Amino acid sequence: MTAYRPDALIASDISAYLELHQHKSLLRFLTCGSVDDGKSTLIGRLLYDSKQIFEDQLSALESDSKRVGTQGQAIDFALLVDGLAAEREQGITIDVAYRFFATEKRKFIVADTPGHEQYTRNMVTGASTADLAVILIDARKGVLTQTKRHSFLAHLLGIRHLVVAVNKMDLVDYDQAVFDRIVDAYAEFAQSIGIQDFTPIPISGFQGDNVTTRSDAMPWFGGPVLLDHLESVEVNGDIDRIKPFRMPVQWVNRPNLDFRGFAGLIASGTIRPGDPVRILPSGRTSTVARIVAMGGDKDIAVAGESVTLTLADEVDCSRGDVIATADAPPQAADQFKATIVWMDPAELLPGRAYWLKLGTQTVSAVIRAPEYAIDVNTMARAPAKTLALNDIGVAEIVTDRGIVFEPYAESHDLGGFILIDKLTNATVGAGMLDFALRRAQNVHWQAVEITREAHAQQKGQQPRLLWFTGLSGSGKSTIANLVEKKLHALGKHSFLLDGDNIRHGLNRDLGFSDQDRVENIRRIGEVAKLMTDAGLIVLTAFISPFRAERAMVRSLLPEGEFFEIFVDTPIEEAERRDVKGLYKKARAGEIANFTGISSPYEPPLAPEIRIDTTRTSPEEAAEQIVEAIMGVWSPML
Ligand code: ADX
Repeated sequence: MTAYRPDALIASDISAYLELHQHKSLLRFLTCGSVDDGKSTLIGRLLYDSKQIFEDQLSALESDSKRVGTQGQAIDFALLVDGLAAEREQGITIDVAYRFFATEKRKFIVADTPGHEQYTRNMVTGASTADLAVILIDARKGVLTQTKRHSFLAHLLGIRHLVVAVNKMDLVDYDQAVFDRIVDAYAEFAQSIGIQDFTPIPISGFQGDNVTTRSDAMPWFGGPVLLDHLESVEVNGDIDRIKPFRMPVQWVNRPNLDFRGFAGLIASGTIRPGDPVRILPSGRTSTVARIVAMGGDKDIAVAGESVTLTLADEVDCSRGDVIATADAPPQAADQFKATIVWMDPAELLPGRAYWLKLGTQTVSAVIRAPEYAIDVNTMARAPAKTLALNDIGVAEIVTDRGIVFEPYAESHDLGGFILIDKLTNATVGAGMLDFALRRAQNVHWQAVEITREAHAQQKGQQPRLLWFTGLSGSGKSTIANLVEKKLHALGKHSFLLDGDNIRHGLNRDLGFSDQDRVENIRRIGEVAKLMTDAGLIVLTAFISPFRAERAMVRSLLPEGEFFEIFVDTPIEEAERRDVKGLYKKARAGEIANFTGISSPYEPPLAPEIRIDTTRTSPEEAAEQIVEAIMGVWSPML
């Protein structure tokens, strides 16, 4: 048995307390169960036996117990816990009460999630950092719906260790058969939801059996005593240290021009001066120069510590960025599959933008209609259109820009998020990123040294994308060719991407279904964007029949660089000209999905330039375009 230090400490003075026990590892655990299961009594006993109680609180308790204690014992531990909870809750609205205690081996934080109301929300709040959950079962009642619910949530939230404490063994005459029956029933359930492992312990919180001392009443039990188990399980903190280094940047500390430090809490790994690091999402690399902490520079810092890092190079890095090991950085993505716990009385609105906060990053995010919701009582999946208060569901999330993340299973810090209503600022949900949806998830932006501005400047011009759109045979290629000739004559660096040519090479795998046309334009948009990055004036001549894809390409470019040029030739006129003889074939049914005949064309609603080819010759059109573009170009052109 462990001997306990009679430290008398004020539980609320957390920092002084934790400092005293700094050399010890920390176990955070959660107790799940209701007061009826004996939860308060159990926590009270742990606190009492480890002597982490104010002396005067103790004497008050003793007299209180004499007054209201109904169980005929000198001290009613439940009173102690409930009293502390009330005290802590004064003035601050928290649903979870945290308590601190320590033994010679370890320090502990217990998150007590009270109430049967809002159980999901409370558990999620208490569980995200927990190493272990104690699931309490009343020996007289066995495995109940709430037992399953709590276990499922603990498992879902990624709590690594589960203790099944079969309590009130004294009330079933310490009968091994009762315990074995409950453990068997629990094991069957656990297996059905994927819980690999759990530690069953028969206890009596009231009598103290197997809580801190081994029970004489249950010699048949060969497993660990609860406190010994709590003192010996592997804690997340120890595991986090051996993972790759990650530190989300909380703020940039720049007191003067000579110092620039990046402050944050190390989520995982170890760091030393001289270590190569990569800054996400930019992808830039540098090395750690100093580790600045309270009380001087450090030679090493580990997960769980708050530090300020200075880097050897002047690199861009701001709040929300993540500093990581250079050779094993986390991923960045903007589309995810996520498990979401809804916490707001107003239900989730798929399609609405919420703030998504993940560590120090905040982005705008849209949640798609859930794929399914999970009934926490039966663990059954059911189709769902939305999520209501305390509902859990799986849905796709799209963020407006890439975020640095890791799947929740790998990192609670970089995979757990909350959702905030943009108007009310209320936390409406919490969730776990399961994985990124795009295959590009492991592609890191290669930070380039020569910027697009530098490329353009060298060419003495500003990049532009002249996007010609119109029916087949409308005259796009003809006009675009003439425009490029004029630009060339003016000494401009340009490049023309033309429909028929691209379809012979890059896009030769694509046909003319709607889906293929979308992909056709997506690829061309990306190529055109890269060419503008190289400083070129890019001209594209593609039917590009859909507004959505033209808008998408527009959004790829900086404001003012995209010119939509609508080559407006009515279908009758294009068909009359029929330069390639395709309309005739299409009418004869020899070409399927022909634009304007058997496939739609959506004319631009507000193009930068519109050319009416029934009134304007190609030559005039080209002149107009060059003029229009020169007009809005800066003096640099
Ligand atoms: S887009 O719709 O995906 O933008 P794109 O401009 O690349 O089309 O290709 C259009 C060219 O492909 C036409 O000018 C024509 O020469 C040829 N073509 C062949 N089949 C079709 C079709 N079904 N619809 C339109 N154009 C076709």
